[in-house]
Amino acid sequence: MNYQSHADIEAALIKILECLLCKNEIAKDVDLFTLGADELTLYRLLNKLHQQFPTLQLSWHDLHTNRTLASLINFIHSSKSLSRVSTERAIKEQFSTAESDARLKFMQKYVQKEYGRLPDNSNQNITQEASRHQPFMNLAWALKRDFNFPLYLQELQTFMTTTEIAAYICVELELHLGLRPRMTSTSIKINQTEILKRAVHTPAKTENKVNNVVFILSAPRSGSTLLRLMLAGHFQLFCPPELNLLHHDQLSDWLINRLKRFPRSTHVIQNLMAIMGFTPSEVNYFLDHPEKATIPIADVYAQIEKSTQKTIIVDKTPSYTKHLFTLQQTEALFDQAQYIHLVRHPYAVIDSFVRHRFHKLINTDQNDPYLSAEYVWTQRNQNVLTFKEQTESKRYYLLHYEHLVAQPRETMAGICRFLQISFSENLLNPYEICHHISGPGDYDILQHDTIEPLLGKKWENIKLPYPLQPETIALANILKYQLPYH
Ligand code: A3P
Repeated sequence: MNYQSHADIEAALIKILECLLCKNEIAKDVDLFTLGADELTLYRLLNKLHQQFPTLQLSWHDLHTNRTLASLINFIHSSKSLSRVSTERAIKEQFSTAESDARLKFMQKYVQKEYGRLPDNSNQNITQEASRHQPFMNLAWALKRDFNFPLYLQELQTFMTTTEIAAYICVELELHLGLRPRMTSTSIKINQTEILKRAVHTPAKTENKVNNVVFILSAPRSGSTLLRLMLAGHFQLFCPPELNLLHHDQLSDWLINRLKRFPRSTHVIQNLMAIMGFTPSEVNYFLDHPEKATIPIADVYAQIEKSTQKTIIVDKTPSYTKHLFTLQQTEALFDQAQYIHLVRHPYAVIDSFVRHRFHKLINTDQNDPYLSAEYVWTQRNQNVLTFKEQTESKRYYLLHYEHLVAQPRETMAGICRFLQISFSENLLNPYEICHHISGPGDYDILQHDTIEPLLGKKWENIKLPYPLQPETIALANILKYQLPYH
């Protein structure tokens, strides 16, 4: 890539933004946040631009301070934002080949550059949300760009100084890049009482039952975002980004929880509330007074059903599979809900989970990332199978990710028969039609442009460091997965 490619970058920038913001044309002088972007949108934009132009040197800060399309284009044209080498290769190599002490010094400088220059004896409490969010996003994007290292906000919550942050990241990065051996432990504690737990609370009753709801149930990293985007092509299916509603009794709990977890992503929350049928003034009122949104969750689904033109709501929220009682809620809240159980080979899910450092996001009792991943695969899929035993089998559909990507047409035709809807070619074009690509879900979803069948064979080349536990092997057998190393 050379300096003549600014025009290519400009064209790519416009195309990605149109896709992320679901617009045919982006107004040049309007703040992207006003157009519906949020911080996740900017992250996905940087991620995609970096994939297409690896020598592009854009920081999070650059994007955040040039928040209209016009100023972004100007910035790219005016700055020396293109270098001749990929920063990922250069910086990663410097870090990896340095001695251990030098690595720490390297990381201290790196964190100071990307996070900011807080003096170590500063009274400023960098754990305060307002002061740490922007520097965090800048650092998180730099680590992804330079090391392909995902960092999560909650990881830095307890650190008070940049020195502490640098020391923490240095160790985590060494582990991630295989420069430091992991403390090995070869056994996993699958907590049977959690897996087999029966309902622990009585689901809220409702008179307002919604009929046409489909839940996509899966362990994380099973291809659920792709499935959602494929289904969204069908004119009868309404497939919003992850709703996460079932964890709460009332909209107020959901709203307070969302605002706490994603303090700067109010646009996503606004979009979701618009999906629920609230007027802009109601949305603003509830954002200011979340505790006033005392609307039962079942009524929220009823409002979604009323406000969408489509006939079936598809709720894809992987966290519903964490507890059996959350799954059981659905039977009390909905009439004849349907369930698509999306499964993926355990080797592939475990590998993806570890690469994305999901053990830092999802709390399990396992302190090893591989064991944590295995635990999550086994626990989540077992919960769905246990739940299946308690529901009518005609409302349950088992879908293998590997079939979905290898034979999308046949697989989608099968899903259409299950849902009793007609087949549509649009189900096969997840990237061609605008369907809320932004919002919670796979951060890397835009890194693909087509359905990639080879990803369904990825497990064949994965060798895990430990043998799988008997519970996992038994479950893999039930789900008809071959385990060549077991
Ligand atoms: P990898 O990390 O192994 O690549 P989820 O959306 O449930 O978090 O699942 C993420 C997985 O879906 C990713 O796994 C990714 O490869 C896969 N995926 C996303 N888009 C895809 C596409 N277009 N074709 C095939 N697989 C895709």
